[in-house]
Amino acid sequence: MRGMSKMAAAASLAAAVAGAQAPEAPAVVGRKCALCHGEKGESAGDDFPRLAAQHAEYLAKQLRDFQAGRREGLMTRMAKGIPEDDVVAIAKYFAAQPAGPGAPATEMSPVGRYLFLHGNKWSGVPACKTCHGEAAHGTAALPRLAGQNADYLERQLREFHQRKRTNDNELMHAVAERLTPLEARALAEYLSTLP
Ligand code: HEC
Ligand code: HEC
Repeated sequence: MRGMSKMAAAASLAAAVAGAQAPEAPAVVGRKCALCHGEKGESAGDDFPRLAAQHAEYLAKQLRDFQAGRREGLMTRMAKGIPEDDVVAIAKYFAAQPAGPGAPATEMSPVGRYLFLHGNKWSGVPACKTCHGEAAHGTAALPRLAGQNADYLERQLREFHQRKRTNDNELMHAVAERLTPLEARALAEYLSTLP
């Protein structure tokens, strides 16, 4: 009897822990976000960023940046009018979803790996790992890049370079302006392969 209740307690504790790790999707996700980003942030297409396993602080910052016009694009319209409570809940929800397995390696991904880990000292590109971390898992202030869609990553690097995306305190601009188109593509393909 005592054993049973201990087990039941352990089971409900486990459920509570699992519940804490996977908050329920705020209603707006199914209504307004899943179409492009997927119900669990797994993304519905190469040009739509995966949100699953991205840091909550980073996700919330992006939504606030879209709302304030610090970052512009298709999302400007989507982010409009989402109350701050929902911004936080959406960010926590997607952050708690599992990361993907990573895309298969490509011919260019070893080039991207070299650049990510060492940079390009001949042209002054810093090693990405110094900020984004060796496994590209990021931190609260720095986005996870591992497993992100290659087409999306490549476009962000181009937009940082061209100053179409400017919500990075110029940190990424200084990096991206030194990348050749081939290097940007190689980095994007390498990062998409990471779990
Ligand atoms: C019609 C498709 C579409 C819908 C619907 C949509 N998004 Fe997006 N989202 C995008 C695209 C495309 C981008 C990339 C933005 C860019 O390139 O400037 C993006 C970017 C984002 C980002 C930034 C990700 C990053 O890695 O920087 C967040 C966060 C986000 N969306 C959240 C949401 C939320 C929350 C909703 C629902 C309220 C939503 N999106 C609805 C297409 C969509
Ligand atoms: C000095 C620190 C620093 C270095 C070095 C750095 N990054 Fe970043 N990166 C950032 C910051 C900060 C952001 C987030 C900007 C924001 O808040 O929107 C970012 C954002 C990004 C994004 C956008 C992610 C998304 O989900 O939209 C990509 C892609 C990226 N970095 C790729 C790279 C690559 C590739 C390299 C190496 C060539 C690199 N970064 C080196 C600081 C850095």
